[in-house]
Amino acid sequence: MSSAATHEHVGMSSSIDITRIARDIAAIAGFSEEPPATGYSRPTFSAAWAVARDYIIAEAAKTGCRHRIDAAGNVHLRPAGLAWETPAWLSGSHLDSVPTGGKYDGVVGVVVPLEVLRAHPQAPLELVLFAEEEGTTFNLGMLGSRIWAGGGATLTAADLAKLRNKHGQSPLEAGRPHGVDPSRFALDKLNAAHYRGFIEVHVEQGLAMWDQNMPVGVVTVINGRRQYACTITGKPNHAGSTEMGGRHDALAAFAEILWQLEQGALRLNAESAHTVLTVGQLFVRPNAINVIPGEVVFTIDFRAQTAKMLDVGNRMIAADIEGICHRRQLTFDLQRTEALPPVPMSSAVCRALRTAATSLGISLPDVASGALHDAAILAPLLATAMLFVASKDGISHNPAEFSRVEDIALAARILAATVTA
Ligand code: GLV
Ligand code: MN
Ligand code: MN
Repeated sequence: MSSAATHEHVGMSSSIDITRIARDIAAIAGFSEEPPATGYSRPTFSAAWAVARDYIIAEAAKTGCRHRIDAAGNVHLRPAGLAWETPAWLSGSHLDSVPTGGKYDGVVGVVVPLEVLRAHPQAPLELVLFAEEEGTTFNLGMLGSRIWAGGGATLTAADLAKLRNKHGQSPLEAGRPHGVDPSRFALDKLNAAHYRGFIEVHVEQGLAMWDQNMPVGVVTVINGRRQYACTITGKPNHAGSTEMGGRHDALAAFAEILWQLEQGALRLNAESAHTVLTVGQLFVRPNAINVIPGEVVFTIDFRAQTAKMLDVGNRMIAADIEGICHRRQLTFDLQRTEALPPVPMSSAVCRALRTAATSLGISLPDVASGALHDAAILAPLLATAMLFVASKDGISHNPAEFSRVEDIALAARILAATVTA
């Protein structure tokens, strides 16, 4: 039998097609709650998100994949001839976006394995679409992967019932029409025996690779993250008749806290690279021009590459807020809403990616991930690694986010070579 015939026999493989990848990215960008000039917005379980998910299911069906939706609302797609129990590679990412985000975050990690399945319709590969990675729909990230990985034990239905989206719905309510079913969480949980490993392809969202002209890289570690919600309570009062010395201004205290946290984060960043702190959400009450702010609610997102630095940041955040509120005679409530450790990637899967890249004449640099990913949730259970694609000027969570489709196609060729090796 000639090698061409063998090729035909194993599933009419073709090669990675850059135009199909570009078409998929453009199609998904068209499914958004915002017009493209404002940015791309696909909150999980929204109509825009559901249409994007259905587009991927339909495209995968054209190449012979069947799908199932698990109890967390994640979609799994496999070649029809590959039983769900047969150990296969898992690859995928998310279709939800931050509000007014870009076209590539999450989407690249979905369209790359989709294209690999088109090129190799019988590859031992399962494509997964995780429901809610960003954490901006319900104020908690990686819901789909956490529920699936923990079978609902680590993130329970009771935890989920407390979360709300902008319409006041919990993920249980908003997700019910899309397959979320807490009664099946424990039954429908990740079974590591069904997988050879997990590879998430993602845009870097940082500058390292673009600046050094490296189109693709392999992630060796995902930084840890702590997130907090803080309420400072002062006393609302009249802006005209309350003397400066007699105020209990919650927003003025917040301003001092933010400045002090930023100074502290700059110091910690100088000690340990990639240590970063962000206050991304702020609510002021009553939020009126002539009323001294009586209450502020804000979030803190703190990330570092070591557990030690996460602890140092934790202490700094608590001490700064405590000290400033105490001096200003204000009360506060600080809650830690998330604590995820730094996660090393599997050296065996990293090696498999490097070997596949070498066979294509590409050398993969090692990179660290400043952003979090579903890969961090799966890594303790499945041998996991990530392939990064360079992000223009390191811009992400922004409509200007851009990666070259040629670089994305290169990641697809590496993934294809890895899963068909
Ligand atoms: C996910 O985008 C994150 O915030 O790291
Ligand atoms: Mn992402
Ligand atoms: Mn993101």
